[in-house]
Amino acid sequence: VSKEFQAMHDAHELLQKFYHHLLVNTKEGQHALEYLLERGFTRESIDKFQIGYSLNSWDFVYKFLSKRDFSPEWLEKAGLIIRRERDGNYFDRFRDRIMFPIHDRNGKTIAFSGRSLGHDEPKYLNSPETAIFNKSKILYNYHLARPSIKKMQHAVLFEGFADCIAADRSGVENGIATMGTSLTDEHIALLRQSVQSVTICYDSDKAGIEAAFRAGNHLNNAGFQIKVAMMADGLDPDEYIKKKGPEKFRNEVIGASLTWMAFKFLYFRRGKNLQIEGDRLAYIEVIIKEISKLDKAVERDHYLRQLAAEFSLSLDALNQQQKQMFFAEKRASAGKKEPVNKPVLIAKQV
Ligand code: CTP
Ligand code: MN
Ligand code: MN
Ligand code: MN
Ligand code: MN
Repeated sequence: VSKEFQAMHDAHELLQKFYHHLLVNTKEGQHALEYLLERGFTRESIDKFQIGYSLNSWDFVYKFLSKRDFSPEWLEKAGLIIRRERDGNYFDRFRDRIMFPIHDRNGKTIAFSGRSLGHDEPKYLNSPETAIFNKSKILYNYHLARPSIKKMQHAVLFEGFADCIAADRSGVENGIATMGTSLTDEHIALLRQSVQSVTICYDSDKAGIEAAFRAGNHLNNAGFQIKVAMMADGLDPDEYIKKKGPEKFRNEVIGASLTWMAFKFLYFRRGKNLQIEGDRLAYIEVIIKEISKLDKAVERDHYLRQLAAEFSLSLDALNQQQKQMFFAEKRASAGKKEPVNKPVLIAKQV
């Protein structure tokens, strides 16, 4: 590790401590603390996740760290201060925000995300990409959740900070978050080191459901076992926990997660009126196509029967169509450079 990298890490560690101090011990941070407590964050989680507050000042960080011999050039490269083109002066990136430190897998602080207290945009202001922070490679809370993920052989994937933290205080300690970005190959490679089974618990709004579908396909293609947890009324996990409490979250959301196939049944139903013949046939067709992607004959049979029962169809007809699609799928995947089931084999070798 070079001297400059070390300095970037040290600056983050120092600031994390100071931001936290400002939040929990000072008058300047009081409104931010009240905001968090009002939202349902506990003192315990505020400590555990080292949440902080950045002062409403243009040069607090600059002065605080310059006094401690950090060079402005490196603070700028670390994303903590910004250089103004016009006069070359520096100013703080994060001002009057709730500060969520972001850690690497070893627990080193490498970035921050600052949430505005009011309705200022952006809602979350993140550290830029730096030599030590790359959002597409980092899963929030992975360093704290990893022991629990390994022990349970299971991880729960959230969208953001508040969800991960609310879940943790509800006893779901194997939670990690993608921080709003889509799940990348690097995220999946990181997860694969400890687990093969994931529950996706994204927001149950339209954007969250679409993102869950994409993340699920990505994980499924990489050979993971997947479940999808959903909440009513378009809530996100944090809102749900505040409204209904931890037990309901554990039992009726996480505990009642859908299998990947059951989620897809729901997913493809959205926006369709199954009372209308055209919609109904389109739905049946897309579901048969999904079923034909399954490798296990028993699973294919199970879901075909379910479909036959729901729409009073003859199992023979469904079987026939499914077989056509199954072989079409096989031919298509044999033609691809990367066969669909290759990642499964990789996963099993680990
Ligand atoms: N996000 C971000 N920048 C934004 C908005 C969102 O980086 N301007 C990331 C954050 O990590 C956030 C996640 O995307 O936690 C999910 O976004 P969203 O659901 O909009 O926010 P919440 O996590 O619900 O935030 P809050 O509960 O504080 O409103
Ligand atoms: Mn991919
Ligand atoms: Mn969201
Ligand atoms: Mn949300
Ligand atoms: Mn939220």
